[in-house]
Amino acid sequence: MSLRHLVNLSDLSPAELRGIILRAIELKNSKGAVYEPLKNKVLGMLFEKSSTRTRISFEAGMIQLGGAAIFLSPRDTQLGRGEPIADSARVISRMVDAIMLRTHEHRTVEIFSEHSRVPIINGLTDRSHPCQLLADLQTYYEHRGEIAGRTVAWIGDGNNMCHSYIEAATLLDFKLNIACPDGYDPAPDFLALGGDRVRITREPAEAICGADLVVTDVWASMGQEEEQAKREQAFRGYEVDEKLMKMAAADALFMHCLPAHRGEEVSAAVLEGPQSVVWDEAENRLHAQKALLEFLLVKDSPVRKLSTH
Ligand code: CP
Ligand code: NVA
Repeated sequence: MSLRHLVNLSDLSPAELRGIILRAIELKNSKGAVYEPLKNKVLGMLFEKSSTRTRISFEAGMIQLGGAAIFLSPRDTQLGRGEPIADSARVISRMVDAIMLRTHEHRTVEIFSEHSRVPIINGLTDRSHPCQLLADLQTYYEHRGEIAGRTVAWIGDGNNMCHSYIEAATLLDFKLNIACPDGYDPAPDFLALGGDRVRITREPAEAICGADLVVTDVWASMGQEEEQAKREQAFRGYEVDEKLMKMAAADALFMHCLPAHRGEEVSAAVLEGPQSVVWDEAENRLHAQKALLEFLLVKDSPVRKLSTH
């Protein structure tokens, strides 16, 4: 079985991504049935930053699939004392069956993937958050069907989540309108990847007009806490509130990877309103990542059979 990683969403082919989404829905619907293809398998989880959803969904997912997960942090491993990342990858990957990392620097996850014997999963870096996209795309599919040909509005920072949305637009062929203030654009390499599907504007109203899905995220990501005040200024007018939401398609959905700041990037009324699917989105982290773990670790898994790599 060839070694595969999920460092960025584009590590998957369109067919694999679609397959994982559909498999996640299947696993969700079979809740209660005992299915333990990962018996005796161990996932190492290294967190340099806080997490609620990512940690719990991976840990619960591994247990439900018959395996186990180990929580690791730089504070209590030698990584925090300067052991080289490549050495850590070599050692940890000889002891566990897959490694999920949440790191400040994206390069750390890349180095792990270059030196690991087992699959590496990006659980969020400064550059991307592919696991969240698996859940978001599953959630869209459950509520509205195929996303191909639809329009998604990203309102806010051109950050890690935005980058992964650009990759998703490329893989699943939807339009992405990004509204972000000057100086907060997505990275040029991600923008280039998106090509014609991606449009940037400084006007949230322009981006959201007729959109089928509206997505936002915090203005200051983890690691940018000291920029909070400056960012609150820069993002003034970017709150997704009811007035803005009305400009989207009548049946538009609202998503946010959470945690959310009510009264900053989203109003309480939108977050708690009828178009918001954020709680399904959060739950789907569990199902989507179970489908991902199965894809990466189970020989002859339904999605692996689609593999063109
Ligand atoms: N959305 C997300 O990744 O949440 P956590 O930071 O709680 O893991
Ligand atoms: N952009 C946010 C996402 C948190 C899940 C961050 O990086 O903090």
